[in-house]
Amino acid sequence: MRKIKAILRGTILAVLAAAGTAAMAFPASAEETMGAVYGVHSYGKGWAETVEDNVYESAANGSYVTAITASLKNQPAGMTGTISYQVNVSGFGWQEWKENFTPAGTTDTDRPLEAVRMQLTGQLEENYDLYYSVFQSGSWTELVKNGETAGTEAQGLRVDGLRVAVMPKNGGLPAEGKHKGRQIDPSRPMVALTFDDGPSGQTARILDCLESNGAVATFFMVGNRMGKYPETIKRMVALGCEPASHTWDHSYISKLSSSALLNNLNQVDAALQEIAGVKTIIMRPPGGFINDASKQTLAQKGVPAILWSIDTLDWKTRNAQNTINTVLGSVRDGDIVLMHDLYEASADAALVLIPELIHRGYQLVTVSEMAALRGGAQPGVSYHSFRP
Ligand code: NI
Repeated sequence: MRKIKAILRGTILAVLAAAGTAAMAFPASAEETMGAVYGVHSYGKGWAETVEDNVYESAANGSYVTAITASLKNQPAGMTGTISYQVNVSGFGWQEWKENFTPAGTTDTDRPLEAVRMQLTGQLEENYDLYYSVFQSGSWTELVKNGETAGTEAQGLRVDGLRVAVMPKNGGLPAEGKHKGRQIDPSRPMVALTFDDGPSGQTARILDCLESNGAVATFFMVGNRMGKYPETIKRMVALGCEPASHTWDHSYISKLSSSALLNNLNQVDAALQEIAGVKTIIMRPPGGFINDASKQTLAQKGVPAILWSIDTLDWKTRNAQNTINTVLGSVRDGDIVLMHDLYEASADAALVLIPELIHRGYQLVTVSEMAALRGGAQPGVSYHSFRP
């Protein structure tokens, strides 16, 4: 049925186009309301599924947008025009206008988008307004329309999401958009649980618990352990957890030369890319040791150093109750909790802490999610927490 309709519409379109039809009324049933269809490409993660009109489409967990595509659904038969879009790529500036799902931006560099412009063309432009907004520095920018700029230029701020909505001409702002997937409420308290030194045989138990509670965590993995647990890592990524770097071999980075540190971190990324098709965008220095020289190298690599605000000392006590008490006794909004997924007692503690923290009103988020909502994390800078 749908197919026949499409063929009919195509025929009408061809006939009207041949007759040189001028602008006219184009009634459409509710289910055929015209809307934008669009998608984002996330650095290190690839293209997300496209979404339809007025959905907040965010970059993949822990990543950012490097390219977008867009087109229209239910375009009224015979009405000329399309949706056209251009992007400002960090360091490259404004790119050519694109249309019909042709990617705008890059998919083979790590360059974030900084701003987006979109517009309708042809008769569509006379009959509709196109509204859009980007997610930048932890919030959605005010809606702009019809070719205006969403986002900032040359301020080094990256685009982390896109929302597009078509409205009848002069019909005012679109209704509140729909959210896709797991959502974080920026106004509610949040905590990032982090697990170092794995993966190990204990990691899967922690993932089970995160999954059943709809929660995520960050895993600062030692690169040379990853090859033994590829399925665990794939699942970690699939669940929306953040795979992060703890160096290839648990080296103290302040003792490495700049080139040795870069090689070390690149080795982790290459292995992770091989296993799960993703890269790390944050790292944690083993032992927490970091100096100015290593910070400079991290800046060059483009990653921030993530430390912690709650040290459970789980590796030392190997006592689940002690770890639980340490966390619950001091947890606050914006904390980064340090644990280790090498030990059975640590996994035991996680199985209690995950539901209990949620019960106490905390959203369990990844470090990069929390950073994005709390002012961002700059490469080469170290962070202990992300307080509101
Ligand atoms: Ni460690």
